[in-house]
Amino acid sequence: MTIFVNEETREFHLQTCNSSYIFTVMENGQLGHLYYGKKIMHKESFQHLLPKGNRPNTAYVKEGDMNFSLDQTKQEYPVYGTTDYREPALHIEQADGSRITDFRYRSYRITSGKPKLQGLPATYAEEGDQVETLAVTLYDKHLDTELTLLYSVFEICDAVARSAKLSNHGKQNLNVARIMSANVDLFDSDYEMIQLSGAWARERHLKSRSLESGIQSISSTRGTSSGHQNPFLALKRPMTTEFTGEVYGFSLIYSGNFLAQVEVDYLDISRISIGIHPFDFNWMLEPTEEFQSPEAVMVYSAEGLNGMSQRFHQLYQTRLARGKWRDRVRPVLTNNWEGTYFNFNEDKIVEMARQSRELGVELFVLDDGWFGKRDDDTTSLGDWNPDYNKLPDGIKGVADKVTSLGMDFGLWFEPEMVSKASRLYEEHPDWILQVPGRNRSHGRNQYVLDFSREEVVDTLYDRMYKILSTANVSYVKWDMNRYMTEIGSQAWPPERQKEVVHRYILGVYRLYERLTSDFPDILFESCASGGCRFDPGMLFYAPQAWTSDDTDAVERLRIQYGTSFVYPLSSMGAHVSAVPNHQVGRWTSLKMRAETAYFGAFGYELDVTSMTADEKKEMKAQIDFYKKYRDLFQFGTFYRLKSPFEKDGNRTTWMVVSKDQTQAIAGDYHVLDRPNQGFTRLCFTGLDEEALYEIEGYEGSYYGDELMGVGLLLDHERFRERGIDEPAGDFHSRLFILNKQ
Ligand code: DGJ
Repeated sequence: MTIFVNEETREFHLQTCNSSYIFTVMENGQLGHLYYGKKIMHKESFQHLLPKGNRPNTAYVKEGDMNFSLDQTKQEYPVYGTTDYREPALHIEQADGSRITDFRYRSYRITSGKPKLQGLPATYAEEGDQVETLAVTLYDKHLDTELTLLYSVFEICDAVARSAKLSNHGKQNLNVARIMSANVDLFDSDYEMIQLSGAWARERHLKSRSLESGIQSISSTRGTSSGHQNPFLALKRPMTTEFTGEVYGFSLIYSGNFLAQVEVDYLDISRISIGIHPFDFNWMLEPTEEFQSPEAVMVYSAEGLNGMSQRFHQLYQTRLARGKWRDRVRPVLTNNWEGTYFNFNEDKIVEMARQSRELGVELFVLDDGWFGKRDDDTTSLGDWNPDYNKLPDGIKGVADKVTSLGMDFGLWFEPEMVSKASRLYEEHPDWILQVPGRNRSHGRNQYVLDFSREEVVDTLYDRMYKILSTANVSYVKWDMNRYMTEIGSQAWPPERQKEVVHRYILGVYRLYERLTSDFPDILFESCASGGCRFDPGMLFYAPQAWTSDDTDAVERLRIQYGTSFVYPLSSMGAHVSAVPNHQVGRWTSLKMRAETAYFGAFGYELDVTSMTADEKKEMKAQIDFYKKYRDLFQFGTFYRLKSPFEKDGNRTTWMVVSKDQTQAIAGDYHVLDRPNQGFTRLCFTGLDEEALYEIEGYEGSYYGDELMGVGLLLDHERFRERGIDEPAGDFHSRLFILNKQ
């Protein structure tokens, strides 16, 4: 049993393997939060966890009672306007100008499994899973409106998935200005907040700060989740490490504007809330209509940050990602983007594919530039017809030629965008996001199609369907290369303009849903100028994402390390590109580039025809190696051992361990070499303590406990092997391959 209900005290206790989450119906009929943290035994009452008392300078709920104030209470899903002065989860503007709501407990229902969220990506349960869902219904009499809070308890992942739904049974339109997906009030504020922040080419860098009184938040108002902030935050105790200590992770399954914030109040209660960003949002809910919030996922770990990440990985890899490719090893690919940019023709593509195939590559991806008159980024988006000058036999022709080499063919699209120089724009200039009379800003010379309109989504569907159903395409890279500006839609009346961004995202999800259902065998990879929309919403449709346009091995250490806080290795597209690197101009060895990219969905992003014979030989060996271990790389348990965000960030170490602990591979990376250093130990983790392991290239065997407790003395090895402290050089990497005897 994962959900307990104390009928008398009206308490709900959601229990996962290692966590407890408890809330109650308070005396005013609203919900109060009691506890979230390490699992505790269930008992008949937890009412003592709801503190009451008379404190000065506040307001109380009932006349004559100086003990019950929401100001001093931890709440489950706070609303605006009574005695709670913190930011609420729900804010509804009403016909009479009032913003006060009073949602009181009405009923609950527990079902096994997990319901779908209409039109939205969400975690799911499969038959036999230990998943139960609690739906608590609250009711505002004055508005004749129901609020349903959904809690799905994933016992094994220590995760609870949450969302909120409003159902307007009344007679007035409700303006929903704020509806957060989850709210949690924790007892104290002795936490550090972790976030994944950055920008293009340096996405998801780790940042952390101690909580302070007041509001601290991360958010996006760019129309996508963005590369600037990821829809995730974690609260960890100051002493929590990668392996020990408490941490709470909060992640939003959504790809649009979001807000994730922590408000520390005067009693040091920390209020975490996460959901659609209320800024520039309003949803007009008419009588009989419902509004469903996106889903938020909360995980609890008492085993440090790695513990938190592994819970997210397990849940997102197996119960968020879907379809044929969810559990399948992903193909090794070559993508032509950095190899040719827009400058290619069919001969060039087929030759690149042929030489890639010789090295063992399984999928060739034709990137941007194959359609309309697209010789640069000023034209043709929206016109998804092949450029017959480059590809005389169209996409079908080039796809047939590539697949006849014995490999799969993949294709790039950017469905959400249009160039002014395009037939689509000529025919439908009103189909872009814009505000009449105002300037229309561009990004990369392109405009954002108004995906809040059904006919726009349908048109793009038809165009993509035509290509995907006639050519032999096994993979689609779905790109999105600019943020939104002048957000306005000509299809919606003035009072619905603040709905446009959310409607747009729903349109993107609708197109993804249709295409992934029609083409269940196609592997979709999401992309937004690299990793600028790498979020759980996208993972529901596309099981992998292009992690970053930055393919430099050193930069990738930080990007992949940060991304791994929430997202599994199988979701991270990671490619080897040419040197000098196109983003930072750095020269790193082919070895280090590959040894970084192995920890993800591996491929090459270069012109293989310009590689030397020696380089090709090395690439072939890399591909053979990756294929041998890709199941481990993509689906093993991932551990971060040494952070590039620590101190001078000179060293990064991570490893993957097979689920049965018989195999493991660690990657150890040094940015700059330094002379005459102290000893460096590499302490592995996740191994079977009592098992004997051999390490490739090392003599003898070692018990798991020694490898984890004592570790390997790396510099010692260097001396022993060569009798001298030879410089390893800058940008140095090394893999350790462990096999159980
Ligand atoms: C941005 C992507 O991140 C790149 O990989 C490439 O597909 C370009 N767009 C093409 O325009």
